[in-house]
Amino acid sequence: MFRWVMLGAGNIANTFARTVREMDGHEVAAVASKSQARAEKLALTHGIPRFFDDYEEMLESVPADAAYISVTVNDHARLTQMCVRHGIPVLCEKAMFRSFDEARKTFDLAAERHVFTMEGTWSLFLPANLTARRWLEDGRIGSCQDMQVSIGFQPEMDPSSRYFSRTLGGGCARDITVYAYELSRFFLGGPMEEMEVEAWGCETGVDIENRIRMNLGGIRVLLHTSFRAPDMEEQLVITGEKGSIQIPHPHYASRAFLRSPEGKVLDTFDDPASASFRWEILEVERNVRGGKLESPVVPHGLTLSCAGLFDLIEEKLRSEG
Ligand SMILES: NC(=O)c1ccc[n+]([C@@H]2O[C@H](COP(=O)([O-])OP(=O)(O)OC[C@H]3O[C@@H](n4cnc5c(N)ncnc54)[C@H](OP(=O)(O)O)[C@@H]3O)[C@@H](O)[C@H]2O)c1
Repeated sequence: MFRWVMLGAGNIANTFARTVREMDGHEVAAVASKSQARAEKLALTHGIPRFFDDYEEMLESVPADAAYISVTVNDHARLTQMCVRHGIPVLCEKAMFRSFDEARKTFDLAAERHVFTMEGTWSLFLPANLTARRWLEDGRIGSCQDMQVSIGFQPEMDPSSRYFSRTLGGGCARDITVYAYELSRFFLGGPMEEMEVEAWGCETGVDIENRIRMNLGGIRVLLHTSFRAPDMEEQLVITGEKGSIQIPHPHYASRAFLRSPEGKVLDTFDDPASASFRWEILEVERNVRGGKLESPVVPHGLTLSCAGLFDLIEEKLRSEG
């Protein structure tokens, strides 16, 4: 049995607990939250035997193979470091860090203590995205020319929410640009030859829209993410000389389409049940059991470079007042 402990008992913690419950060979041994009532409710809902109102007390009392961290972004580095100091491998929700500095310090500590850590960019394990990447690698669209990723919606303007609160590590970059950027590197790799960043902020001091132009190994890439786009068509499109690949909602992808240059559908992946946390959970188990310190799918270098992008976006916001 692979035993998980959970730090955080909010919205996405429920999805994680439900997924683990449906998996053979995995169980959640305990959950901790700053609120006893939240921890208890999550434990009762998902049949978790123990719950705590103190993260450290849980880490000290419950033997675990890995910890899942799903608090708000402002507390990810501190809690990852806490788990690492207890020798417990970590899967931490995206965005794992607010800045390059937080990422560097945390990964250095994990390396020093020989503890596995991974950002939970679940999108990079989804079968729809893996299928699309195989089409690309198999040359089904020929030589790749251009990639565009659009992700956007319009959360309700609540300055205290995790989307808009600076204190909680909010902002569009850490919520959705993280997906767009890490997916672009997942599909195209690199090297990064150029990068141009545009960012717009709002009255709470966080960014609400990003436009990032990159040149990845000679391929033009445009990422557009927004918190003020209720009607944005969320998709990832890669165009090549012999066709294109389209993935609707690539951050929670369950479908992918391969098209001819004329737009005729040549191949399809479509499986709603495949958009699951189970793949990243299995990745953590595989790496921890194999004695690895990082995942080849979401390596520390990817998380670090994305955290570096957050720094550039912050700089842009500050320089534009
Ligand atoms: N992979 C995905 O598909 C996905 C989807 C949604 C979110 N996420 C990520 O998961 C993380 C949590 O998102 P969520 O939607 O679950 O958030 P949430 O329900 O708003 O909050 C999660 C936890 O964060 C802490 N928290 C929330 N508001 C707080 C506040 N005002 N002050 C102090 N602590 C607070 C609480 O932790 P305690 O219970 O421990 O006190 C809460 O249970 C984020 O990093 C987000 O980007 C991932």
